[in-house]
Amino acid sequence: MTSTQEQIEVSYDVSNEFFELWLDENMHYTSASYLTGDETLEQAQIQKCRILADYAEVTPDSLVLDIGCGWGSNLEFLVRERGVKRAHGITLSTAQCEWIHAKELDGVKAIVKDYAEYEPTEKYDALVSIEMIDHLCSPAQSHKGMAIELYRKYFAKCASWVESGSCFGFQAILRNRVPRNRKDLADLKFTADVIFPGGLNPRLEELTAAVNPHWEILETRTQRTSYGKTTGEWLRRLRANEATIREKWGDQVFIDYERYLDTCVRAFDAHWSSDVQMKLRKI
Ligand SMILES: C[S@@+](CC[C@H](N)C(=O)[O-])C[C@H]1O[C@@H](n2cnc3c(N)ncnc32)[C@H](O)[C@@H]1O
Repeated sequence: MTSTQEQIEVSYDVSNEFFELWLDENMHYTSASYLTGDETLEQAQIQKCRILADYAEVTPDSLVLDIGCGWGSNLEFLVRERGVKRAHGITLSTAQCEWIHAKELDGVKAIVKDYAEYEPTEKYDALVSIEMIDHLCSPAQSHKGMAIELYRKYFAKCASWVESGSCFGFQAILRNRVPRNRKDLADLKFTADVIFPGGLNPRLEELTAAVNPHWEILETRTQRTSYGKTTGEWLRRLRANEATIREKWGDQVFIDYERYLDTCVRAFDAHWSSDVQMKLRKI
């Protein structure tokens, strides 16, 4: 695995209360899907879940796995809006898992587990994974040419959890282009080193190579501007809570998160980064 449990805790265990101040009310920590551009962040987050559940061909009777389930926002969507009776989630963050357990959602089971060590006792009918693959290859591993191999290992493991014909609603942040000036490069490096240590966003072509030989790509949808709007809204909410954040978690936390989110807004605007959703079907 690339991001270790300690590195994941740097990214997600600042404090649940901290993330509550600037994420949407259901704590989605990934790009929303703005379809008209006029939606609230909350509406656009639900639209993201609908797209991925449709890609995964989820029905109320499906046993669904969310790989890298965060604070359980998509699991909650599945049981509440799609009537799914059994939805499982794995995450590497203890704080996220405790948060999900505290919600006591009927049919939801979440555990702290590295995907590479997960051995479910029954097959799933549908898979969803939202921006978890961005933790699976470090910059150093990518420089050594290991990215496709690491992503292929992930797609192979996911394929082992379902029967042929089952579908996977998959979403990832993408690395598209490298900025040209030193300040922008330094801001991206800061985000990778300080906010998401051990992680690196994949390139679209790495993903399309790595799904082979297990998955057929049925649809690909990119949503660069949606992530720009999502991070812009997170930044606005973070700034609106500046005084509370500085008081409770210290000046450095506010300074670091403001720099990270401001960098994200510029990264999506300037095409350095994008976001992709894919419908995959096991061959
Ligand atoms: C950016 S968060 C996304 C959370 C959630 N999918 C959402 O949409 O809000 C990435 C998630 O992947 C999880 N994760 C990272 N590496 C993992 C691994 N090796 N095994 C299981 N979960 C992992 C993290 O714990 C975190 O919950």
